[in-house]
Amino acid sequence: MGSIQIERVKFWNQKHVAVCQGQTWFPEERMVQLCSGKSVLEIGPGDGRQLQKLIGGAKDYSIADICPAVVKKYVNLKYAYEIMSMDDLIIDDTDQIAKFDVVHCWYVIHHILKWELARFFAFVCRHLARNGVFVFNYPVTGDTGVDPRLTIHHSTIDIVRKLDKCEMDVIRLCYYEPRNVVIEARQRGFR
Ligand SMILES: C[S@@+](CC[C@H](N)C(=O)[O-])C[C@H]1O[C@@H](n2cnc3c(N)ncnc32)[C@H](O)[C@@H]1O
Repeated sequence: MGSIQIERVKFWNQKHVAVCQGQTWFPEERMVQLCSGKSVLEIGPGDGRQLQKLIGGAKDYSIADICPAVVKKYVNLKYAYEIMSMDDLIIDDTDQIAKFDVVHCWYVIHHILKWELARFFAFVCRHLARNGVFVFNYPVTGDTGVDPRLTIHHSTIDIVRKLDKCEMDVIRLCYYEPRNVVIEARQRGFR
C-alpha cells in the first residue's frame, strides 16, 4: 500500500461521519426509482445517508469503500467490500465478477485522485450488469474543505473522457443547485 493510500485510509477512518454531514443534497426520488427491485452497489457509503433511503426498495444492497471503519459498519449486507486496490474485484459465490444493476456513489468522485479515476471507472464498469447504470455526483467547483492531497476537482470534460476510455457512455447529465453535477452512464452498447 502506497503512502498516500495509508494517509487516506487514516483520514477516512477518522472523518467519514463528520465530513459526510457537511453536504446533504441527493436526488432521492430518481434514485429510489432506479434502485427499486434492483441489485445495487454503493461505493463510499460513509455514514449511510443514501443507503438508508434506498436499501428498503432494492432487491439486494452491497457496499465498497477504501475505509475499513466504514466497511465494518455494513458487514451484514450482501457484499461489504474493502477496496485495497482498484485492480481487485468483488467475486461472487460462483467465482465470477459480481454484477449489479445499479452502481452509485455520492460525494466520492472528488476524492478519487486524477491518476486513479480511469481505474476507478474501470472497476465500476466491470461490476455493471448488462444494461446496468452507474450514477454519481461531483462538485462543479473545487472547494471541498477536505485535505487537498486527498481531494481534487475533476472537470466534466475529464470525467466524460475517462468514462469514454472505459467504454461507458453518458446517458444523462444534470446540473443541480447549488453546485452538483449528476451523471448516469452505461456500458457502451447497452442503452
Ligand atoms: C464524503 S464521504 C461521503 C459518504 C456518503 N456517500 C455521504 O454522502 O454521506 C466519502 C466516502 O467515500 C469513501 N472514499 C473516499 N475515497 C475513496 C476511494 N478512493 N475509493 C472508495 N471510497 C472512497 C470514504 O471512506 C467515505 O465513505
